[in-house]
This record gives sequence, structure tokens and C-alpha cells, in this order.
Amino acid sequence: MRFLPQLFANNRSWAASHVAQDPNFFGRLCAIQKPDYLWIGCADSRVPANEIVGLAPGSLFVHRNVGNLVRADDPNCLAVVQYAVEQLKVSHIIVTGHYHCGGVQAAMGPPMTDPLEGWITPVRHLHREHEAQLAALPEGEARIDRLCELNVLAQVRVLSELPLVREAWARGQSLAIHGWIYDLRDGLLRDLEVTVDA
Ligand code: CO
Repeated sequence: MRFLPQLFANNRSWAASHVAQDPNFFGRLCAIQKPDYLWIGCADSRVPANEIVGLAPGSLFVHRNVGNLVRADDPNCLAVVQYAVEQLKVSHIIVTGHYHCGGVQAAMGPPMTDPLEGWITPVRHLHREHEAQLAALPEGEARIDRLCELNVLAQVRVLSELPLVREAWARGQSLAIHGWIYDLRDGLLRDLEVTVDA
């Protein structure tokens, strides 16, 4: 018996619809990967990268983790950034956070167990760093959402300080780093206007 038959059925109709529109769709993708964007987003199931920005396969290189974090000690994320910048030569890295982020919210709550606790430690530090600003906001959603925004800004900063990003800029490579936030309530993205491009 095949498990999860619905997902396979969905997949067959998805592939068929692409082929119906463009018989060479998969053949072309097979031949070359040339995305212009690296998306770094949260693993949250409600924030599907390609769908939100209406991009088909082949357009978006994607890395997702809990809380959309970029950590200089995370070889997984760094390998993605390295491949995107040095091999694919993407022109844009987009860090996309989202309101109501469970990872960010957890960093405002009681300690959890590892590895989750260790993973979100930088967000706990960020929370402490901005405690006064956050305390001035109404308790609850407003504070969580502001920390979600601050978290995006922090990741943009970490990215802009990575040696491999600095080296790309020094080579004259075109590379902009953007900070965006996605609102689960209306499905809209907002540019936090912190773009760094050299
Ligand atoms: Co999240």
C-alpha cells in the first residue's frame, strides 16, 4: 500500500498542469538552475516561499528554519548562502519573517528543551536587548510582532557581515540583502526597508 496517496495524486496533477502549459517545462529546469533570489524564511507551514511571491520552480533558491535565523555558527544556512552567492550568483537575498511567529514567541516565554532552546537563543538575546522598546507596546500581539520585525533586521545585519558576502561585494558582485515581513492575517508582504547592497 502506498502511503499518503492524496499527496501523490496532487503531485501528478501539478506536474501535468505544468506540462499542459509548457511541454518543455521540466526539461528546461533540468538543464539549468538560474534563480535570481535566495529566500531565507521561517519553516512555518503558513509561509510557503514560492507561492507568496508567485514564482515558479527555478526562480527561488530557498532556505527555511525555525524563526528565519541566520547564524554564523550554522553550517546548513551558511552552505546555502555560499552556494547561492558564489555558484548561482543570485542578485538578491531576501530574509522574510512573519508575524505570529511561534519561534519568536517561544523566545519570549519560558525555557524549552534543546535543540530548540539552543536554536532560538539569539532571539532571546534580541528580546533582552530591546526590552525597553517592547515593554512600551501593549502586551501580547504587538510585542511579539515587533520582535518578529526586529528579528528580521538582526538577520539582515548578520548576513551583511558574513565574510563570504563581504567578499562578493569586494569583487563587485551585484548583491542586495532585503528584510521583509509577511502578515498571516492578510497574506501580504511588507518591505521593512533595510536593504543593504554594499
Ligand atoms: Co515562524
